[in-house]
Amino acid sequence: MNKDKKLQKLNEDMDALCACKLKKTAINVVPGKGSADAKIIFIGEAPGKNEDKAGEPFIGAAGKFLNELLATINLKRENIYITNVVKYHPPNNRDPLPEEVADCELWLQEQINLIDPVLIIPLGRHALERFLPGRKISEGHGKAFCREIDGMGKRVFYALYHPAAALYNDGLRDTLLKDFARIPKIIAHIERKDEQCCC
Ligand code: URA
Repeated sequence: MNKDKKLQKLNEDMDALCACKLKKTAINVVPGKGSADAKIIFIGEAPGKNEDKAGEPFIGAAGKFLNELLATINLKRENIYITNVVKYHPPNNRDPLPEEVADCELWLQEQINLIDPVLIIPLGRHALERFLPGRKISEGHGKAFCREIDGMGKRVFYALYHPAAALYNDGLRDTLLKDFARIPKIIAHIERKDEQCCC
């Protein structure tokens, strides 16, 4: 079975197994989209209303801005993987509850282990919290760091502000553009194994 098929099967199996209560109110599961061979995984918080209708991550206003950001460094969606911490839409766009995050935890872990990306990019504070509890996005954004995470081994993270947060804030928009521009260099450094962040 090739890697894309394995990822598709993983997502089907995890959807069947996942105990997350949001399943009851969501229209569709939003497992993630992109390449199983991606060097980069982008991880958002949870699907919004548009994503719930379509079963695809980041297709609303934040997704359109994410597309613009990707284009600035010549990345195409089909060459990366985009997913969320929680795979089902929380009603009224509320924040996911800790138990909903916990119920989707193994799923995200297995996606990361299968894809085995060079770089994990948490988008926003909720995604950052999943990997670095207590770290503020205002302090952690735009810095690469390596962490040993239970069940995932050593991984390199590079947190960014969530594109939705930057939609109506020009300052954050500029920060996000600057942080994004560093991604190709960070990948190159990790692949050469000379990035200071790599333990
Ligand atoms: N915001 C997210 O965090 N994820 C999506 O898929 C869409 C918007």
